[in-house]
Amino acid sequence: MLLRYFLFVLGFTLTLNISSQTPTDYLPKEFHKSRREALRAKMPVNSVAVVFANPLRNRANDVDYVFHQDPNFYYLTGYREPNGVLVLFSDDQQAEDGTVYNEMLFVQKKDKRAEQWDGKRLGIEGAKERLGFKMVMNGEDFKNAGINFKAFDRIFVEKFNDDYRNSTNNTGEIYDLVMAFKQNADYNPNNFLSPIKKQIYELVKSTPIENSANVAQIIGRAIAYDPSLKEDTDLMKFKDASEIAIKKDLKEKITLKLNAKTNIDISFLSSNLATLREVKTPAEIKLLTKAIRISAVGQIEVMKAMKPHMSEIELQGIHEFVYKKYGAEYEGYPSIVGAGNNGCILHYIENSKTKVGNDLVLMDLGAEYRGYTADVTRTIPANGKFTKAQKAIYNIVYDAQEAGIKAYTVGESMAKPNQIAIAVVNQGLLDLGIIKSLDEKHPYFPHGTSHHIGLDVHDPGNYGNFEENMVVTMEPGIYIPEGSNCDKKWWGIGIRIEDDILVTKNGPVNLSAEAPRTVKEIEKMMAKKSVLDDFVLPNLDE
Ligand code: GLY
Ligand code: MN
Ligand code: MN
Repeated sequence: MLLRYFLFVLGFTLTLNISSQTPTDYLPKEFHKSRREALRAKMPVNSVAVVFANPLRNRANDVDYVFHQDPNFYYLTGYREPNGVLVLFSDDQQAEDGTVYNEMLFVQKKDKRAEQWDGKRLGIEGAKERLGFKMVMNGEDFKNAGINFKAFDRIFVEKFNDDYRNSTNNTGEIYDLVMAFKQNADYNPNNFLSPIKKQIYELVKSTPIENSANVAQIIGRAIAYDPSLKEDTDLMKFKDASEIAIKKDLKEKITLKLNAKTNIDISFLSSNLATLREVKTPAEIKLLTKAIRISAVGQIEVMKAMKPHMSEIELQGIHEFVYKKYGAEYEGYPSIVGAGNNGCILHYIENSKTKVGNDLVLMDLGAEYRGYTADVTRTIPANGKFTKAQKAIYNIVYDAQEAGIKAYTVGESMAKPNQIAIAVVNQGLLDLGIIKSLDEKHPYFPHGTSHHIGLDVHDPGNYGNFEENMVVTMEPGIYIPEGSNCDKKWWGIGIRIEDDILVTKNGPVNLSAEAPRTVKEIEKMMAKKSVLDDFVLPNLDE
């Protein structure tokens, strides 16, 4: 009896310990519920929103990529598994048994065998308890759940990217769920017009046939922005046709498409979720701050550890080790570590140089913590000392960043920091003789400075004016690849400094400020000893 009591207590203690051994600081279910309520408040009467989870994506043979949830779906549900669907109704619905509900969540079915191989699933009961949904069903029942989509005046979905496949015979995969939705809702891509498609059809309608060569050119360019245009065979024939009679015939057909009616809307969700997601709640700011501070500490550790004999990938590994040490699950985007000329490639993710040598090393990396990602860049000299030329360019970028950050104030245009940075960079390049006049078009600063961060590294937003509790990057850069049209002494210098700025009523707060930024601070940090100085592994090549 005593033994049984003891085992019970031991078992209970173990259970408690085991459950407390997984992270507990995810966003609470109340957060996700409040986001659904905020979205519902924007929906017109008799409408329904359908949001799909991400599918698993195949890497090779029987190995999939590590799963990552669709950020909009996560924002609204907190569900971290693939193969889910959220159905959100503008108005209360009533089930046959009288239950009143205004949302449904479809989840992966509990399955002992699948869970033994691939990990635990929340299932229906777990989703009710942990995510706070009342109406939860298995994904495989979505098709026959009796939702009469056609009865709604508006159906909101995101644009389907169709980058999933039916990998097994199971039902309930995203592939099946999307097919079931398309069937139930009478989804026909030819019946709804994306904004670009609508513009093109209007253009075809309003342009006299004699001038249609221009229209054909515009259609060609528009395909890059909306590849679904290619699926419109009439439009493609119109683009390529040369005979006037054939063109006339096609023009009539295309014009009629402007009258097509559908209750499916593929822009409502992306634009309204951008409006919600661009302003962060206190709970989101807390997680973002953690992700950003982790990334800043990564930069500090690398500043101490960096030596010219190290490889780009090794430096990447040190950042990412720091992230994991803090329990960050992922990197928010592929890490960029580029020495010298590699630093001039904006999204250089190969990180394959075996020795960084005496070059500058541009390091753009961000930890993703509980879904929220940082985006921090530092550029430092591998040997610990900036050369005169490196310092001259670095200080222009630094001044541009400092000047731009001052504009992160409530009510200011979000375009302003970029304008300020361009002015500072151009003046600096002119002073050094790298460009010949202030209005010279040059390739040395080819990107903007400011994007939202959050669940996505390039978080959605409307890019109007700064509002309180937005978190936005400030990232000017100067990139002078080898062969540039300037003195050779500047070649191979690529510098970006990127910080994550919280907009508050009292002005900008630099959340990544603990990673040194000035030449002096960086050189001082790089002179410090690193614990990795003594971390020597056996040579495996001898
Ligand atoms: N790391 C991507 C960016 O800075 O936007
Ligand atoms: Mn960025
Ligand atoms: Mn970045």
